[in-house]
Amino acid sequence: MEKLQVKDKTFAVSIPAAELQQEVRRVAAEINRDFEGKEPLFLPVLNGAFMFAADLLREITLPCEISFIKLASYQGMQTSGAIREVIGLAKDITDRHVIIIEDIIDSGLTMAHMIETLQTHNPASISICSCLVKPAALKVQVPIHYRCFDIPNDFILGYGLDYDGFGRNTKDIYTLVY
Ligand code: IMP
Ligand code: MG
Repeated sequence: MEKLQVKDKTFAVSIPAAELQQEVRRVAAEINRDFEGKEPLFLPVLNGAFMFAADLLREITLPCEISFIKLASYQGMQTSGAIREVIGLAKDITDRHVIIIEDIIDSGLTMAHMIETLQTHNPASISICSCLVKPAALKVQVPIHYRCFDIPNDFILGYGLDYDGFGRNTKDIYTLVY
């Protein structure tokens, strides 16, 4: 098994690029079918989803728009908890069919917050498309319309996902071994 060293951790390939690309094409075909006759607005979430979004959108044949968004965390003035804010929502999403593109859904808290925020702008619909989902880690219920893979509750890296900022630039997906 091919190993990858990133900083102090060792990773091994868990989803090879060819398998990944096959599922990306399957999901793209589902979206092309479900949104036929519509002009969706894709919202890839930076940074992690950049590579998945690039591959997925190359397979999308619908007339569509793409606008990247990012979440910013900051310390609230009165609470000690981190508050997350959607930044870069440059497009007016009113009456649009919005498709969020995410790298991975872990606790689901990020997507739950994102949906809550987007809903206040009255889109026609909101769909979530995530490359990976860790079903055993979900803490809140979020509707996941499209996904490439369900994975175990392990730390993974590559294909956009990082460990401490590094390791995003791989074609395969890796799992932490030690
Ligand atoms: P959630 O809010 O817990 O669902 O977290 C989602 C975000 O956490 C993802 O968009 C990733 O940026 C990050 N994340 C979750 N699991 C992993 C992992 O295994 N490796 C790298 N990043 C992860
Ligand atoms: Mg992410």
